Amino acid sequence: MIEPVVLVHGGAWGVPDAWVDKTIEGVKSAARIGYDVLKSGGSALDAVEAAVRSLEDDEYFNAGRGASLNLAGEAVLESSIQRGSDLEAGCVTLIKDFPHPISLARKVLEETPHAFIGGEGAKQFGIEQGFDMVPQSSLVTNAAKEELREFLKSGSIGNSADTVGCVVVDCNGHVAAGTSTGGTAGKYVGRIGDAPQIGNGTYADDFVGAVSSTGHGESILKFSLAHSIIKQMEVGDNAQDAATKCINGMTDRLKNTGGAIVVSNKGDVGFSFTTNRMSWCYVKAEEIHYGIDPNQHLKDAY
Ligand code: GLY
Repeated sequence: MIEPVVLVHGGAWGVPDAWVDKTIEGVKSAARIGYDVLKSGGSALDAVEAAVRSLEDDEYFNAGRGASLNLAGEAVLESSIQRGSDLEAGCVTLIKDFPHPISLARKVLEETPHAFIGGEGAKQFGIEQGFDMVPQSSLVTNAAKEELREFLKSGSIGNSADTVGCVVVDCNGHVAAGTSTGGTAGKYVGRIGDAPQIGNGTYADDFVGAVSSTGHGESILKFSLAHSIIKQMEVGDNAQDAATKCINGMTDRLKNTGGAIVVSNKGDVGFSFTTNRMSWCYVKAEEIHYGIDPNQHLKDAY
């Protein structure tokens, strides 16, 4: 038996000072929700889904309601989830009508022979699976509109909000990972990033561990970030060293920033980011650990 861990991130980006408290509150709440699912007998996949759903509901994060907007002013959501026991995965992209793409991705994993469905097909699938559609306007916040206005003025994604994710190992060493995003502010209509892609945004393998990525999507997918971290662990790095090496490697090579959270199948934790901030939180051994600034590591009793 190993000590179970639920580790979440709220995106690697330049979180403004005014959002720091709300962001930390959000990742702590999500990690607790995931851990409670594990404690009450849920699977690693159940815990990932529950934690990510809570971040999708929280408008301080770029996922679900509060997602960054594309050039047409729409929230267009993407997500992926993977189960480490058998590598089964579900991914969705170009989602405009459902507030919880992580749950839709899980249905792709469980109910289809496919791994990845996008756009109109994903919408039809969601309807068939009984998901309630919501008006697009319910996903769009004033802060996201303001972020898009800033992008259109400056022409750069600069401080664009980014992505949420969760990695879990249960007491039997089964791992799972999930990632959810609205992508980058001012993205082209039809642009797809790293977050819904296995090996880039998400990876989970019981033989090694689980990863969720965040940051500049085009760089993450060129670098195959999530699977690069897994490969480093396969050759002997612990979760922290693998995360640090690959995040720094991606930033050195592609000159763009990002972050990742990692858990090994033994319960070792790793997280790293080259952005100004990344909110993260994990629960392990009845303690809650969290932070947002570089080298910050705070701890509370659970
Ligand atoms: N990392 C999220 C995106 O670039 O789409």
